[in-house]
Amino acid sequence: MIDKIKELISEAESFKAQSKDEVEAFRIKYLGKKGLLNDFFAEFKNVANDQKKEFGQTINKLKKTAEDKVNALKAELESTEEVKGIYGDLSRPGGEPVQIGARHPISIVKNQIIDIFSRIGFNVSEGPEIEDDWHNFTALNLPEYHPARDMQDTFFIQTDPDILLRTHTSSVQVRYMENNTPPIRTISPGRVYRNEAISARSHCFFHQLEGLYIDKDVSFADLKQTLQHFTSEMFGKSEIRLRPSYFPFTEPSAEIDVYWGGLETETDYKITKGTGWLEIGGCGMVDPNVLENCKIDSTEYSGFAFGVGIDRIAMLLHQIGDIRLLSENDVRFLEQFKSAL
Ligand code: PHE
Repeated sequence: MIDKIKELISEAESFKAQSKDEVEAFRIKYLGKKGLLNDFFAEFKNVANDQKKEFGQTINKLKKTAEDKVNALKAELESTEEVKGIYGDLSRPGGEPVQIGARHPISIVKNQIIDIFSRIGFNVSEGPEIEDDWHNFTALNLPEYHPARDMQDTFFIQTDPDILLRTHTSSVQVRYMENNTPPIRTISPGRVYRNEAISARSHCFFHQLEGLYIDKDVSFADLKQTLQHFTSEMFGKSEIRLRPSYFPFTEPSAEIDVYWGGLETETDYKITKGTGWLEIGGCGMVDPNVLENCKIDSTEYSGFAFGVGIDRIAMLLHQIGDIRLLSENDVRFLEQFKSAL
């Protein structure tokens, strides 16, 4: 009997397995309830007294050998499985192509505008969306109680009237002039907020891109030429209309309209309100008070500023009839911009 056990010990020592199932079968054969070891232990009482010691030692050795083998094989199989987990089955054919996302139409249009202005020497600057009264209003020639503050329904942060969500990107003009000296050529894209009813045409947040040009002898003609260059690059159309308007921070001021014409599609009709013209923003010569507020000598320098609505431009270019689509993140809508830039 002892010889039989010794044979089993060397069998167990040389056992090899390819899978967890084989290891389990081995474990059951040796260590299971009805396994060999239990049979030998049951046999113990029948063994002659003088052999008991050797018999006991041998079955204990068999037990230990089988247990060690099971543990070693399990560890080995797990570590090879881990490797498979990292690299997968390297011989497998290529699977489904990875789904590539699309840029948001606002980002597409923003990048196009940045490209156009970068080519004529403008850099890109940014400012915070949570602003203080000074940068959003006061420095822009809108002192407290100025009636024009009502033009922009403001969201205030908690109860502090000094902290608000910026209502326009003109706040970045102020920050830029405070921190840089002329000549200045910068554009500032960003999100702005107004407490307005949400509809197909307006939203409580949208995107603007501010432009600021400060140097010696800058004139209104420079402003008009710059805007015309922009619209012809952006839309392939350079017919623009500057309608006299009012902004406290520019003098004179104008509203910028682009002639889109056509009216072929329902969306064009809707977006241009049936006139063929689309207002894309405001502009004007920077008011000397604003320059002085930002510590720029208004007797030496002049400049122009403009602010255009990115959402409006995106809607026109991509025939989007409802501004709300731009913030709903409906994948069926966003997927359509895969082929765009
Ligand atoms: N900040 C103005 C608006 O939001 C646009 C503007 C920018 C007008 C710069 C003039 C100069 O309506």
